[in-house]
This record gives sequence, structure tokens and C-alpha cells, in this order.
Amino acid sequence: MIKVVNVVGARPNFIKISPLMAEMKKSKVITPLLLHTGQHYDYSMSESFFKELGIPSPDVHLNVGSASHAKQVSLIMQKFDQFCDKYQPDMVVVVGDVNSTMACSLVAVKRGIKVAHIEAGIRSWDRRMPEEVNRIVTDSISDYFFPPSQDAVENLLHEGHDQKDIFLVGNIMIDTLKQQQLPIDSSDVLEKLDLEPRKYTLLTLHRPSNVDHAENLRNITESIGHIQKQMKVVFPVHPRTHTRFQEFGIEKELDAMKNLIRIAPLGYFEFGKLVKNASFVLTDSGGIQEETTVYGVPCITLRENTERPITVSKGTNELAGADKTKIIELSEKIISGNWKKGSVPPMWDGETALRIVTELEKLEIG
Ligand code: UD1
Ligand code: UDP
Repeated sequence: MIKVVNVVGARPNFIKISPLMAEMKKSKVITPLLLHTGQHYDYSMSESFFKELGIPSPDVHLNVGSASHAKQVSLIMQKFDQFCDKYQPDMVVVVGDVNSTMACSLVAVKRGIKVAHIEAGIRSWDRRMPEEVNRIVTDSISDYFFPPSQDAVENLLHEGHDQKDIFLVGNIMIDTLKQQQLPIDSSDVLEKLDLEPRKYTLLTLHRPSNVDHAENLRNITESIGHIQKQMKVVFPVHPRTHTRFQEFGIEKELDAMKNLIRIAPLGYFEFGKLVKNASFVLTDSGGIQEETTVYGVPCITLRENTERPITVSKGTNELAGADKTKIIELSEKIISGNWKKGSVPPMWDGETALRIVTELEKLEIG
């Protein structure tokens, strides 16, 4: 049996690990264990996803909480190292690009434990982004790579990785999206928020490049002020963003926007229903660029670059940065019905977890 430790820490990790844990549980070759670093800890940022998606409670919880990047990464590393002393895993599986991903892969590789990276190879080419550093570090030390798209395969090959260690498997987030369509459709969030399908915009915001810079946050706020004059804007506010609105004194401007519905972060089902039925989505999230592409819902990404270029070239996504004029121009393009249709990238089909486990089972480790 291969003793596999699956690492999660932050919101998007839970959504990615859900189908993978379920598939691993069926395996006769893999003994899966789930480890939560505690990077995210609020009920709405963590436990709600375990409940809704039926993810088993973590076998191990490191309870690291929030801190500076250096402190958080080093605390995760120390605690994960102690855990590995006891458990002696054969393989560590990490997903995405958060601090927990990089910290645990570093510990594993230094102990000679094999590392498999799910969502490997994607690049924004912007090293000011903390996630880009996490991606580069994690990919440079991983043993097995599970990229979501061909562009990511090519990035890994250019960086010198061997084709035999790269498995193009598609997008794990879309497995969850497909599996959860019934509860998503059954959600009553539209009624609760008094919304009509296709008559509202959904907004999420949490990238440091947007929310930690007062000028960018103000520009985005002003563009929201403009858009909400034309249609309701629903805004589940990430805790980082909530703090920054207060710090920069922007709350008053938001309060004055009559058509802006500011709410706490939502569970996966309610949020999924809002994405699926939106007129369009404004976001700086990674995962939401992918989900809108699969739902065929127009997406304006509030960033200057994306590590998911396929959502622009094939999907429904366009980049606007924090540029007020561009955001408004693109929003009006959507409202006037003048947006590309988009198509779903290959292998974003709900079968990614199965492909990953099939490949892991063939590896001669354990
Ligand atoms: C992290 C990830 C980011 C990912 C995002 C998903 C890194 C470097 N960043 O960003 O890639 O897109 O998660 O949402 O790993 N906080 C709470 N409650 C929580 C969690 C956080 O209040 O449950 C607050 C804390 O004040 C904390 C801040 O949010 O300092 C930021 O949390 P952190 O995990 O450091 O970064 P995120 O911005 O959430
Ligand atoms: N999401 C959610 N509730 C919210 C906001 C997002 O369930 O209020 C889900 C969303 O559907 C997607 C994931 O969280 O599956 C994206 O996570 P996030 O934007 O925090 O991180 P990123 O993808 O940018 O790393």
C-alpha cells in the first residue's frame, strides 16, 4: 500500500481535494490520509466545505492560523516535519498554489518523500504574486506533475521536467463542480437575496495586488459604484478584503451603494448557484475564472495577467486589471450582449480525480 498524505490549508484546496479523497478511498493500492494545516480556519472559509462536500474530517490538523508568509510557512514546515517523523508517508499530494502547498512540498522533498503536485505548471509570469512563487518552488521540487491544461504541460517541459513525470489530467475543480450540480441547483440563495437569474453581477476580491493597495482598491470600488447603478452587485467579502476596506476607510463609499449586496463568504452550493446564474462575474480569484468558463458565464478578471490563459483563449474570461475605465468598458460590452461564447477546455469533464488516481496507482513506490 502507498501511504499518501493529502495536504489542504485554504478554501480552494478543500474544493480540489474533495473528489480526490473520494477516489483514493476506492483504491486498493493507496491508503489516503487528510492533513489540514489550518491556514484558513473561519467556519465559512474552511469547515463549511467539509460539511457540504462530504470531505472526511482531517486526520491531522496543524492549527497554524494566520501570520506573515515567513512565519506561516515556517510554522507549517516545523509541524508537518514532526508529523512526518511519526507517520512516515510514502507520498505527499499537494494542490494549487497556497503557502500550505509550498511549505509541505519542501518538507517532503527534504525528507526524500515523493511529492505529487495537482494543478502543476500554470504560470502567471508575475513573481510579485505570492502564489507564483509558491508554484515555481513547488514545481521545481515535485516528482510528479498533474497539470490541468496543455499550456501548463509546456511550461513544465520548458523548465526541464521529464515528460514521463507529467500527466495531463484536466481540472480537478471541475470534478467538484460537476458532482455538486444537484445541490447547487437546489440552493435558494437567489430567493434569499431577492435576485433574478442573469440580472445581477457577482464580485469576489482578495488578491493582495488589489486589496492591499489603497489606490487599486479605490479604483475597483469606483467601478463597482458605476456598475451597481445598472444592476445589483453581490459581493461575498473575503476576510482579507474586509479588513482592508476598514483600514483604508472605504466602508462609507460601499455603504452608499444602494444596489451593492455585501455579505460574508458563502458556502460552495450557494456560491455555485450565484456563479451559474449571474449576468457576469467580476473576480480576481483563480478558481472562479475556471468555473465561469465551464458555466459559460462571462468573467472579467481584475488582474493584469492570469496563470489560466486558457480561460481567455477558449473560455469566457477577459482581463481588466484594476483599471476603472477597462472594467466599466468590459462590463458594458457584456450588458449589451456583445461577449464571446467560449468553450470548455479538454478534460475539464469531471473525470480528473479518476485519471490522477489511476496514474498514482501505477507508480512503483510504497
Ligand atoms: C490565501 C492564498 C491564496 C488563495 C486564498 C484563497 C497564500 C499565499 N494565499 O490567501 O492563494 O487564493 O487563500 O481564499 O497562500 N483570515 C481570516 N480567516 C480565515 C483565513 C484568513 O480572518 O479563515 C484573514 C486573516 O486576517 C489573514 C488574512 O485573512 O491574515 C489572509 O489570509 P491568508 O491565508 O494569509 O491569505 P489569503 O488572502 O486568504
Ligand atoms: N467560493 C465559495 N464561496 C465564496 C467564494 C468562493 O465557495 O464566497 C469558491 C469558488 O466557487 C471556488 C473557490 O471558492 O471554487 C475559489 O477560491 P478562492 O477564490 O478563495 O481562491 P483562488 O481560486 O483564487 O485561489
